[in-house]
Amino acid sequence: MNRSRIRQAVERMRAYTPGEQPQEPGFIKLNTNENPYPPTPAIREALERPPDRLRLYPDPLCQELRRELARLHGCRAEQVFVGNGSDEVLALCVRAFVERDGTIGFFDPSYSLYPVLAAAEEIAVRPVPLKPDFTWDMPAGYAASLFFLTTPNAPTALQYPRETVRSFCAGFDGVVVLDEAYVDFAREHFMDMALEFGHVLVARSLSKSYSLAGLRVGYVVGAEPLIAAMYKIKDSYNVDRLAQEIALAAIRDQAHMRANAARIRATRERAAAALRTRGFEVGPSEANFLWARPSRPAARDLYEALRARKILVRYFPGERTGAHLRVTIGTDGEMDALLRALDEIGAG
Ligand SMILES: Cc1ncc(COP(=O)(O)O)c(C=O)c1O
Repeated sequence: MNRSRIRQAVERMRAYTPGEQPQEPGFIKLNTNENPYPPTPAIREALERPPDRLRLYPDPLCQELRRELARLHGCRAEQVFVGNGSDEVLALCVRAFVERDGTIGFFDPSYSLYPVLAAAEEIAVRPVPLKPDFTWDMPAGYAASLFFLTTPNAPTALQYPRETVRSFCAGFDGVVVLDEAYVDFAREHFMDMALEFGHVLVARSLSKSYSLAGLRVGYVVGAEPLIAAMYKIKDSYNVDRLAQEIALAAIRDQAHMRANAARIRATRERAAAALRTRGFEVGPSEANFLWARPSRPAARDLYEALRARKILVRYFPGERTGAHLRVTIGTDGEMDALLRALDEIGAG
């Protein structure tokens, strides 16, 4: 019998392609927007405690962590949902807020997970193409049930102006998720919009600025009815006990995160200037990566040439993205190694 037992939508859809995590050692990883510096040493206490407590299930509602996040953002714990990475948070937004005959919007290019989340739920997408300079004009009469607005955007690194974002939120009829995964590297954030509007959520991640990509913790802030709906459908214990403890320690050490982000911003500005000097077109970045367009060799060839020298950057094939490379900001030493490799290759 040759009958597939897999849902047709799942058979048809393409999976999300994560950035390469090499299995061999020795690569300089500038491809997945991880933080090159360690997380706060305050997490060591949680890691060193005897493991006996792991016999017990974690708090299914992450209450202590939510209270801490609520203090940080000046809201109530009931306005915070904590998930297994912000990826889980985004998936739950789709499941909680979009009917099967609804639509999901996002900019093209932006985070390539959004269409995958829609496809898995058999929900139609209405992407909005960004202009050649990667800014946007919403098409007249545009509507969707949910819009993922990535700000700063990935992979372009651009932060959209506050008034543009605010007026989009004010005029939009569906749910808006402001995906602020990179916001700690930006000049400002839009958390106030989640506290002002009943249909706007702000999603954050501990993966980038808190150096905890391996932990898998993200959260979203917004109006209580939306947050309560997400709690109805999440997995019973979606954030494990160690993750809750470590995230709590990390959130409590804002000074460490801020100092780390400032260091990365300084390296970012130096690296952007060095790339521009070599002839790359590099837009302003409000994130922990650069969106850089080489004139020679072509972006794909440069990606391959760097890979051959054990330096990984991210290449996204496609009409809107294929002329650029996304380069994560590493340590100063790693960025110097990148620049030396570019000079050897003759890239610019
Ligand atoms: C825009 C954006 N949102 C969310 C995420 C996911 O972050 P997390 O590690 O918290 O799942 C990423 C990760 O690359 C991202 O680029």
